[in-house]
Amino acid sequence: MRSAVAEAKAEGKSVGLVPTMGALHAGHISLVDRARGDNDVVVVSVFVNPTQFNNAEDLATYPRTEEADCNKLSQAGVDYVFIPTVEEVYPEPDTRQFDLGEVAAVMEGAMRPGHFNGVAQIVSKLFAMVNPTRAYFGEKDFQQIAVIRKMVALEGFDIEIVDCPICREADGLAMSSRNTRLTPEQREIAPVIHKALSASVDWAKTHTLEETKRFVIDEINSFPHMEVEYYEIVDPLTMQPLTSWDAPCNGRPVGCVTAYCGKVRLIDNIKY
Ligand code: PAF
Repeated sequence: MRSAVAEAKAEGKSVGLVPTMGALHAGHISLVDRARGDNDVVVVSVFVNPTQFNNAEDLATYPRTEEADCNKLSQAGVDYVFIPTVEEVYPEPDTRQFDLGEVAAVMEGAMRPGHFNGVAQIVSKLFAMVNPTRAYFGEKDFQQIAVIRKMVALEGFDIEIVDCPICREADGLAMSSRNTRLTPEQREIAPVIHKALSASVDWAKTHTLEETKRFVIDEINSFPHMEVEYYEIVDPLTMQPLTSWDAPCNGRPVGCVTAYCGKVRLIDNIKY
């Protein structure tokens, strides 16, 4: 992988990296398409990173579909698929603790202790191994992108982070590898997450921020199998929750939700 990228760069070519944990769907392919448009060479990594799972069952049951992934990537015209083993990535236990600051302290960071440190570990390893010109991440994991930008600033990588819009199923459900774990009944209900978020944009025009949060939570929780873990409306740069629509904010506020549908943890977000 290193020599392929070094050779491409020596020829003046740009290299786009799409880091994934496999179980690829159309959302991943949209990142690949974007990377292909921007770069001469596209690399997709497939690695289910153990250090970012804070729940052993979640790691054990994470879908692994390597052959189907490779077929999809070859159809999508990627140049390299990088599938390292756990031993190659972590020949020694990774004991690095990143000081990710406020962007990692809230929401996913508060609910999944150690998760973002694990993300920073693997993404920094992949950046060191692949050394791309640019790297592509989906906005479904909105907070993750802020954490990765922070890690890049801490480590001094000369790599452009490109964020790409959420891809949705026809009924609005944000595409996710975890959707395959929903039962048919849960799959019918899960689009309520996006429906509630979308409806809240209009609601927000005539209601306070707290009322808007309540609206989203109550709407989602009113469906069977659904339980909101958190809903926060945050500053898009700092990820800090806002308490009113008039509070200072670095751009459009973003509503970030995590909700369980049965045992499946789903995340989504919307811009106000
Ligand atoms: O978003 C993901 O799929 C993962 O967190 C990532 C960025 C590939 C790191 O393992």
